Amino acid sequence: MEFASSSGIFSKDRIDLGTLVLLESMVLPDEGVVLDMGCGCGVIGITIAKIRPRLRVTMVDVNPTAVKLAKENIDTNDVQNAEAIHSDLYSGLEGRRFDLIISNPPLAAGYKVIFPLIEGAKSHLKKGGCLQLVLRKGVNAISKKMNETFGNVELVSRKSGYKVFRSLNQNGKRQSLSATNRYMGGYGKQEQKQKTK
Ligand SMILES: C[S@@+](CC[C@H](N)C(=O)[O-])C[C@H]1O[C@@H](n2cnc3c(N)ncnc32)[C@H](O)[C@@H]1O
Repeated sequence: MEFASSSGIFSKDRIDLGTLVLLESMVLPDEGVVLDMGCGCGVIGITIAKIRPRLRVTMVDVNPTAVKLAKENIDTNDVQNAEAIHSDLYSGLEGRRFDLIISNPPLAAGYKVIFPLIEGAKSHLKKGGCLQLVLRKGVNAISKKMNETFGNVELVSRKSGYKVFRSLNQNGKRQSLSATNRYMGGYGKQEQKQKTK
């Protein structure tokens, strides 16, 4: 796969290590709709679309140049099941719900952006949907916010100083471990380690 980037775009010269850690450890549904929040030039969303043709992937970024590049990279990689939209967090996605929201989030923007990203995920995920984030700084505060928002958070993997966390949208219901595992059938049968409020 090929990804064009340009100045002013995150990690313009090479694919970010955190992005690679997320791509290695992400857990994907076989079908449904996926949101890549803060897509940059589109590495995460386009990779997902390419390896899971039955998924439909929406990629959003607040930076218009990133959205333009993501659109170009969709075409370059001959991907039919992805779109790129300009959006400040969820502002351009009113009424849309996803099976998975995945992000290498803009940690440099601070909690004023990261916390609304997590809170907004709650109302933009379908029941049983999943939020997956890769983090390097603010790990304790952000994973705590995920737990407060969703009632659960799981450390999926850690590598090279990065940690990938996942929360399930259980719509307030406290599911038993076995119920969660059954529901997560489409995501694979990993052992679930849930912290519940
Ligand atoms: C850490 S970069 C990740 C880029 C890309 N996903 C990757 O892995 O290479 C975070 C991205 O979030 C975008 N971003 C920052 N604030 C945003 C906001 N309020 N809404 C949407 N995207 C935002 C930035 O423009 C940047 O492209």
